[in-house]
Amino acid sequence: MRVAITGTTGRVGAALARHLAPRHEVIPLPRAACDFSKPEALEAALDTLDCDVFINPAALTGLEACEDDPRLAMRVNSAAPGKIALWAADRGIRMIHFSTDYVFEGETTVPLGEDMPARPVNAYGRSKLAGEMAVLAHPGNLVLRVSWIFGPEKPSFVDQIFDAALAREPLAAVADKLCLPTCTTDLARWTETLLETGTQGILHACNPGPPVSWHGMAECVVREMTACGWLDLCPEVAALKLDEMPLFRASRPRFTVMDPGRLSAITGGLRPWPEALAEHVRLRCAAS
Ligand SMILES: NC(=O)c1ccc[n+]([C@@H]2O[C@H](COP(=O)([O-])OP(=O)(O)OC[C@H]3O[C@@H](n4cnc5c(N)ncnc54)[C@H](OP(=O)(O)O)[C@@H]3O)[C@@H](O)[C@H]2O)c1
Repeated sequence: MRVAITGTTGRVGAALARHLAPRHEVIPLPRAACDFSKPEALEAALDTLDCDVFINPAALTGLEACEDDPRLAMRVNSAAPGKIALWAADRGIRMIHFSTDYVFEGETTVPLGEDMPARPVNAYGRSKLAGEMAVLAHPGNLVLRVSWIFGPEKPSFVDQIFDAALAREPLAAVADKLCLPTCTTDLARWTETLLETGTQGILHACNPGPPVSWHGMAECVVREMTACGWLDLCPEVAALKLDEMPLFRASRPRFTVMDPGRLSAITGGLRPWPEALAEHVRLRCAAS
């Protein structure tokens, strides 16, 4: 299959390009080839593109950046995906688009199904929800909602904790905000399966397991580092409150635990996040 992939310098795009390359013809579309903030550049790139499926993980992902420039957020996260979806529909090309758990307002305490109402609380979430709607306006397309991405391609929160623990720095993380993380290695495998199944609509694409906070993930990281012999004593991680984070100017939803049951049924089962995170830490230990 000829698979065009945007955002190949990002976590998800890089993981997809690496995973699919041995079995598919991957056409990478980094920002230099396809700038979502400049519609005229988008048209030039699409005019010459020949692919069977268009995968779109590219996005303006910084919450504060979206809050500071909501129009740019709408352009990158909604208008550009909408334009691509229209172009793809005209040519019978399926689109797989990536979205976020931050489309939810986070006020429930039960795992969120795909059909539960989305009510974003910040500019990022609003722009991503608008992007979902623009892509799903065309039958056949698929939206994968992911959350708290980690993987080997690009450092994320868990890698900051790994590095800080190695440097014997004090550790602290928010403990009153819950989610289910997504491992990029697993996400790339699921996406390849979904290329074949032709699934459409929305899927919650996170690893199953107990709902966890950043604090809980940080504790898993240092526990695994200690088990691997990289730390003599397992350090304590201080628990922070979401309301006490001075650098968080955009509102964050507190409970965005998505139910990945539909994806699990399609793919034949998903690896729990503690297993995926422990493997990630072991690989980092081996490479350090
Ligand atoms: N990271 C998470 O924890 C998380 C959580 C929930 C949902 N998601 C969603 O998952 C998807 C992938 O996220 P990620 O973690 O891979 O993001 P990422 O690491 O921040 O990468 C974003 C990618 O988008 C590209 N991009 C940004 N602005 C662009 C523009 N104007 N034109 C073209 N490309 C542009 C970036 O290119 P440059 O390198 O040139 O900037 C980069 O390749 C996104 O849709 C995001 O909303 C992520």
